[in-house]
Amino acid sequence: AARQPITGGNWKMNPTSLDDARELAKSVAAAAGSSAAEGIVFPPYPFIGPVGEIIKDTKLNLGSQSIFFEDKGAYTGAVSASMVKSLGVKYVLAGHSERRTLFKDNDAAINKKVLKIIEGGMIPVLCIGETKEEFDANLCESVCAIQLAKDLAGVSAADVKTMIIAYEPVWAIGTGLVCPSETAQKVHKFLRAKLASMYDQATADAVRIQYGGSVTPDSVDELMSMPDIDGCLVGGASLDGEKFGRILNFN
Ligand code: G3H
Repeated sequence: AARQPITGGNWKMNPTSLDDARELAKSVAAAAGSSAAEGIVFPPYPFIGPVGEIIKDTKLNLGSQSIFFEDKGAYTGAVSASMVKSLGVKYVLAGHSERRTLFKDNDAAINKKVLKIIEGGMIPVLCIGETKEEFDANLCESVCAIQLAKDLAGVSAADVKTMIIAYEPVWAIGTGLVCPSETAQKVHKFLRAKLASMYDQATADAVRIQYGGSVTPDSVDELMSMPDIDGCLVGGASLDGEKFGRILNFN
């Protein structure tokens, strides 16, 4: 495919100090080199600026793990799109399953975030995926299709073209149970067909769809050999510079 591979490292609520964040950023930058995939790091909010300084002369891009959808005002603890944009952020996660469950981000809020990220001149990485119960009940495709439709409401074809969708089966996140490559490929193909029905084929063919859930250096090559898997969204293994570097430099 003509799509440029893109892989993100979602640090989640790690590491726990600025010094450790700087160390991790340096080791990722050193290991990434001129990687096969375009790379993104998503540090916690307080570390975005300092990490941005460290990676600014590398090919890595800066990401934010979330934003709040209001512009400014009395929203204690919240961070806006323009705040992260002013730190050099290019990509912003929306709809991560941890945000959906732990912080009660619902599809309506996720949709507002997606629109606000785009309005702010950044690119959303929209995360979707089914739970174990839904997977067992054969509801994977219908759950993902509903999330896609709700979360992308009002997003134009021109904007969706530049977006990234991350398919993250909840049962594969942080469990060590990576989704088999063929199974993930089937879902990615379904998602692309769904995007084609919501927009058009050319738009669907342009969207980059990442797989996320227990990706490691051992599983990345086979995942990346699948025609509709355009990159990975990595949690645990992105906290090790060498491992993440290997994932960016997949074979
Ligand atoms: O955003 C990343 C995903 O939640 C995957 O996390 O690689 O630790 O399973 P994980």
